[in-house]
Amino acid sequence: MDVLVNAAMSADGKLSTVRREQVAISGPDDFARVDRLRAGSDAVAVGVGTVLADDPRLTVKDAALVERRREGGEPAQPMRVVADSRARTPPDARVLDDDAPTYLLVSEAADPDRLGALRRPGVEVAAVGEERVALERALVALADAGVASLLVEGGGELVFSFLEAGLVDRLSTFVGPQVIGGRDAPTLADGDGFLERFPALELVDVDRLDGGVVLHWRVDDGPEGGHRPAKEG
Ligand SMILES: NC(=O)c1ccc[n+]([C@@H]2O[C@H](COP(=O)([O-])OP(=O)(O)OC[C@H]3O[C@@H](n4cnc5c(N)ncnc54)[C@H](OP(=O)(O)O)[C@@H]3O)[C@@H](O)[C@H]2O)c1
Repeated sequence: MDVLVNAAMSADGKLSTVRREQVAISGPDDFARVDRLRAGSDAVAVGVGTVLADDPRLTVKDAALVERRREGGEPAQPMRVVADSRARTPPDARVLDDDAPTYLLVSEAADPDRLGALRRPGVEVAAVGEERVALERALVALADAGVASLLVEGGGELVFSFLEAGLVDRLSTFVGPQVIGGRDAPTLADGDGFLERFPALELVDVDRLDGGVVLHWRVDDGPEGGHRPAKEG
């Protein structure tokens, strides 16, 4: 499966503030770029932290892009995917509305009552992992559901896990013209961090827009197993 990670971060690498509220980092040109990325994907994924913080819809907004998908024989909207081991998604979350199908990736540890409150037409639930969503298993389940291209839109915990599992093919980041700061503010890749070997990236392209830049990276899967050593020699 082709996995593209995309996120917007400040010049100091933050996805949001220490309050973890949604903030404007990019602008209209980047929103349009992300809309095109969504329209070109079979599915769009976030972690439940992003659902709780931002309550995103994760749909394609531009009617012309929706129409183009229809004309191409695709569903009008990409599938929405939430990695939510314990079914913490609120039942009234916008990602569960009927604008698009939704795939909830949960674990065996998810509370059945919470799951019951989330099940409805258009929402598929798959348990892939004992305590936490196992991403390799998740990708197998998504592939079985017809997903060949996945756009991962954050946040930092989920992106770290995708990188740690070696499942990311491409990474694009809008780097915006502001400093957010805050040691506890989310960054592009949080999790436990890498210590010995870092996922290696190859810069493919750079675009200027909205007063910042978009960096397009390919995640290297070369002879070092896609990792750069943390120290020289
Ligand atoms: N600027 C941007 O482009 C952008 C994009 C997205 C989000 N954000 C910001 O990022 C913040 C949210 O990011 P976040 O890092 O807190 O949350 P996140 O990455 O969206 O979600 C993290 C949660 O996902 C669940 N999860 C399930 N399986 C996982 C796995 N295998 N690996 C990692 N997590 C897994 C975990 O909860 P369970 O263990 O309960 O499942 C985990 O706590 C918000 O402030 C939001 O505004 C910014």
